[in-house]
Amino acid sequence: MEPDREIRYSLRPLRVPGGNTVSAALCGPLSRPHPHPRCPPMSSSRRRVAVLGATGVAGQQFLVSLEQHPWFEVVALAASSRSAGRSYREAITTESGQMRWACEEPLPARFEDVPVQNAAELDPGSVDLVFSAVESDAARALEERFAPRVPVVSTSSAFRYEDDVPIIVPGVNHEHAVLVKRQQRERGWKGCVVPIPNCTTTGLVVALAPLARQFGVEAVIMTSMQALSGAGRSPGVLGLDALDNVIPYIPKEEEKVQTETSKILGALEGDRIVPLDVPVSAHCNRVNVRDGHTECVSLGLGSPASPADVAEAMRSFGSEFTDLGLPSAPPDLIHVTDDPYRPQPRVDRRLNDGMTTVVGRVREDPVLRNGIKMVLLSHNTKLGAAKGATLVAEYLVEQGLG
Ligand SMILES: NC(=O)c1ccc[n+]([C@@H]2O[C@H](COP(=O)([O-])OP(=O)(O)OC[C@H]3O[C@@H](n4cnc5c(N)ncnc54)[C@H](OP(=O)(O)O)[C@@H]3O)[C@@H](O)[C@H]2O)c1
Repeated sequence: MEPDREIRYSLRPLRVPGGNTVSAALCGPLSRPHPHPRCPPMSSSRRRVAVLGATGVAGQQFLVSLEQHPWFEVVALAASSRSAGRSYREAITTESGQMRWACEEPLPARFEDVPVQNAAELDPGSVDLVFSAVESDAARALEERFAPRVPVVSTSSAFRYEDDVPIIVPGVNHEHAVLVKRQQRERGWKGCVVPIPNCTTTGLVVALAPLARQFGVEAVIMTSMQALSGAGRSPGVLGLDALDNVIPYIPKEEEKVQTETSKILGALEGDRIVPLDVPVSAHCNRVNVRDGHTECVSLGLGSPASPADVAEAMRSFGSEFTDLGLPSAPPDLIHVTDDPYRPQPRVDRRLNDGMTTVVGRVREDPVLRNGIKMVLLSHNTKLGAAKGATLVAEYLVEQGLG
């Protein structure tokens, strides 16, 4: 099936904060880039949100994802002191006049003239929720400023490895979100910090989750081919280094994938997560692709399963989450293709606006016990960053946790 022809319509009700519902039919096809532009406006009840790191690659994607969001209204754009005081357009434009807008979608006009604020000075009392898209070192101090007051949904790794902090991938482990109650109790916060994973971990855990549940997973070997946008822009990867090349090292990436996969696939026991006891061997490479991380995965299952069984487990995964009807959720968490030449980043990354993980080449792996191998593709700046974080925030709100 051609993903770009896969336009699906849904008549299911969309839940909105406060328990009301609106028909998704009013909102148009769910697999189009903006699934809710015609939803009834909720201006009186929309939560006021700030985007920290709004000028960066992930931050820019937040502006696209939130531009017409029915629950969230962007009231503050913030970044470093380098950008503060300039209009958003000026802040992302170089001295020589190049506008460094990295999204395929155009810069939403309503943000062009908004003044960028210094994130370190933004009043936590002026917003209801914060999206953080800042590099980890700076993110730690910034997120700590806001979390005592309001929920912070973060793309950074600053808090990911703390015991009372869940790393949420919607549809995979959203039940871990109740840990925010422990954060609030133990840290005395009214808000919380909820990170999403490293963008390479995201696609991997989406594909592994149904297999871990149905067959068990005992070993994972993953080789990534990661897009350039995943490196961000400060400093990012130089064109001269990337062109005609593969870079076989991304600092800290392999360790992140290994640790985060075990935590996300772990079990919630009381108010702690017991990581899944599974060895994960990751080889992370940067390749000359703009968006979309491709991953070749070999895994040993806990019980025998044919490639057809595995494909079926992935195809039927996630409806209990997608049936919640959250505005940024895709109709399917995983799309399995039978085309042996797919997935390809340029062709498949925009399926369901980059929110569906595309899996192909599901076959036996003769090396591992109960071995299966496959190729997956996950959009690193959509599901793996801004729109994935937006979906997490929607879930927190829907659950009364945010
Ligand atoms: N790119 C992806 O695909 C992706 C995916 C998942 C997660 N992430 C994570 O998202 C975060 C941002 O990544 P990115 O790729 O968007 O990086 P980026 O393009 O380099 O952008 C970094 C952003 O952080 C801001 N910043 C830097 N230092 C700051 C400070 N001291 N105070 C406030 N803001 C500061 C920058 O503002 P100025 O413009 O003012 O310098 C800029 O807006 C990182 O933690 C990254 O690991 C990225």
